Parts: sequence; structure tokens; C-alpha cells
Amino acid sequence: MEKLQKQMRRSLMMSFRAASFGVLGFVTVVLFQNCDGGFNYDPNSGQLSSSGSGGVGSAQFRLTTFNPSGLVVPEGQSFEGGVDFKLVVSGQQVSSATILWSLLNNTGGCILKAGTGPETRFVYCDRSGRVTIQSTAIWVDGSTTVIASERTTAALIVDACGASNSTRTVFRIPNGTGASPWNSMASPLAVSVGQTLRICNDDSTASHQLMTTGGSPCAPQGAPMARGAFYDCVIANANNTNATTGLYNGLYNAVAGPAAAFYVRPFDGVALYADTTKTSNGQSCVSCHNNFANSTKKGASFTGIRNAITNNTGGMGVYMGRITDNELRAIAFSLNQ
Ligand code: HEC
Repeated sequence: MEKLQKQMRRSLMMSFRAASFGVLGFVTVVLFQNCDGGFNYDPNSGQLSSSGSGGVGSAQFRLTTFNPSGLVVPEGQSFEGGVDFKLVVSGQQVSSATILWSLLNNTGGCILKAGTGPETRFVYCDRSGRVTIQSTAIWVDGSTTVIASERTTAALIVDACGASNSTRTVFRIPNGTGASPWNSMASPLAVSVGQTLRICNDDSTASHQLMTTGGSPCAPQGAPMARGAFYDCVIANANNTNATTGLYNGLYNAVAGPAAAFYVRPFDGVALYADTTKTSNGQSCVSCHNNFANSTKKGASFTGIRNAITNNTGGMGVYMGRITDNELRAIAFSLNQ
């Protein structure tokens, strides 16, 4: 009741103020016949908040931004890199209007992601720069209202993690992963034995900790890592894999439990070099280029090997259709250590 009175008081105050602006006053009075005037309605949380609490626009059409914890990110405040910020437009007639979203002057590497409805979007930026979020309402009478929120943006905070290189594969736990699997079984991460798998925590919603079993492919992580931290897992072997899928058994986020799986498929270049099941005639690299330790092809590149197979150089066509690119990458990786 007290809230309602407060709302009414505010409405009256604003009507009075608006009335002194003539034509504008007419519009405003019509709008405030409903007691929601001057307040924002968040269609997702179902909560009302006062118009003074952040956001841009008017009571008729307002854009408010929320962080992953559901708190309003006031106008003027920068967007942290690698975080999904929720954008919500609100207003009396918004549900019957057509809402258009766009990003202008985008130097922050920002993208818009779908929300739960037309009034909601998520914006995700990963570079230091600027962005203007623009929302347009096309009302039922054909008129339009455009509002814009200008923000500075920050780079992803986990750049300490670095990028993948010839001896290191970088895997980033996506922001928002929480207690879910780190990746999908359908597209497991490929790693070569001998490589370093660097796991970076890009997730602002949970801490993560790699669990392994039987020391394969590396020791389990000792403690959970915060956002921005990483763990280097040197792929020691291709042991303890599932016979059907070829994926390591027992890799998961120790903080969330076994359901929060990490799907990784190892490729052992040294073993593949001598593997006689990959050719049509039981040969392997050993047959023509010495054993691995004394290989005449040390330093060979993935494309070099691949082209030799495609061109049937020296009879290497026996590998055609029997060896995968990932397997050839692993062989090349091993030949370059
Ligand atoms: C049937 C014998 C045979 C087998 C099996 C074979 N190679 Fe070759 N390979 C050759 C011959 C012959 C050449 C051409 C002469 C050379 O470069 O040594 C060649 C060339 C190459 C080259 C150089 C290609 C170029 O364009 O310069 C690379 C790299 C290579 N092989 C790697 C491999 C690897 C790795 C394997 C196993 C996956 C393999 N080869 C299996 C016989 C073979």
C-alpha cells in the first residue's frame, strides 16, 4: 500500500511537471493514468523499479542493463569483457510494439545474443573500445521511439592465458558454464600427446577445477581456479580412454561433479607413426622413413605429409581415406619435438 502511495505521489508530481510543457503534458497524463508511471517493469524478473535507478529513455520506453547477478549496470558504467549483460526494454506499450536492436560504433568486439523475448537481448564484448546499443520501438500507430546506451568496453580479463601455439592447445571454459559440461561430447577437444593443454577459466558464474583419473592425461588440479586463472595439463599419454569414443575417461569439473564433463580426445603421434592399421597394405611411416627416433622426416609439417598422401608421393597414397587430419597433425607435432 505504501508503495502504491509512493507511486501515485510520483505520478502526480510528474503529471504536474509535464502539464507545464503543454502538448507533452497531454501525452504524459494519458500515460500516467496507470499507476506504473515513472517506474520500470522488468518483464523477466517481474519486478518494478524506480526510473531513477539507472537505464536510459523515458517511462514510455526505457532500456535497462543488468549484470549476470541481476543488478542494474547504470548508464556510464563500462562493460566488463567476456560477460553477458542483459538488456531489457520496458514501458506500458512495449509488449505490443515491434522492438529492433542494433549495435553502433562498435569497437568493443560486441555481439548481440538472443534473449527470452523481443524486449530482451544480451550483449557480450571482448575488446577494449566503445559500443552504442540502440533499441527502436515501432508502436502500433506506426510511430517510432529510438533510445541508445553508450558504453565503454573492456578486454577479456583472461588474456594472461594466451593463445594456442605449436606446443600448447588453449581451451577456454565458456562464460556462463557454471555446473554444466565444459564442452560437448559431439565436438571433443583434440590434443596431441606431449602437448600442453592449457585450461583457462573464462567463466564468471563459477570456479572450476580439472579432475582426472589415474594420472591420465595429467595430474588433477589441486584447487579450484578463479575466473582469469588457468591450469596447464601436460598430455603425458593416451591411456585410460573409452574404447568406443576414444575420449579420456573421468575428466570433469571437480567443483561441480562428474556430470560437468570435459571431453578430450588424445592423438599419439609417436604411436600413429608406427600404426600399421592406417594403410591399405599394413605399412606405416616406419616402413619407408626409419623408426621414429631415427626418422628421416623429422621436422615435417602437417601440410607436407598431407600433400604427400594426396599426391601418392613414394606410394604414400596407401593412407588415403584411412588417416584423419587430426592424426596427421599429431604425427607432425611429434616429428617436430
Ligand atoms: C610406402 C613408403 C612410404 C610410406 C609408408 C610413407 N612414406 Fe613418406 N615418402 C615416401 C617417399 C618415397 C617419399 C619421397 C622421397 C622423400 O621425400 O623421402 C616420401 C615423402 C615424404 C615426405 C616429404 C613430402 C614432400 O613433399 O617433400 C614426408 C613429409 C613424408 N613422406 C612423411 C611420411 C609420414 C609422416 C608417413 C607416415 C604417416 C609416411 N611418409 C609414410 C615413402 C613413404
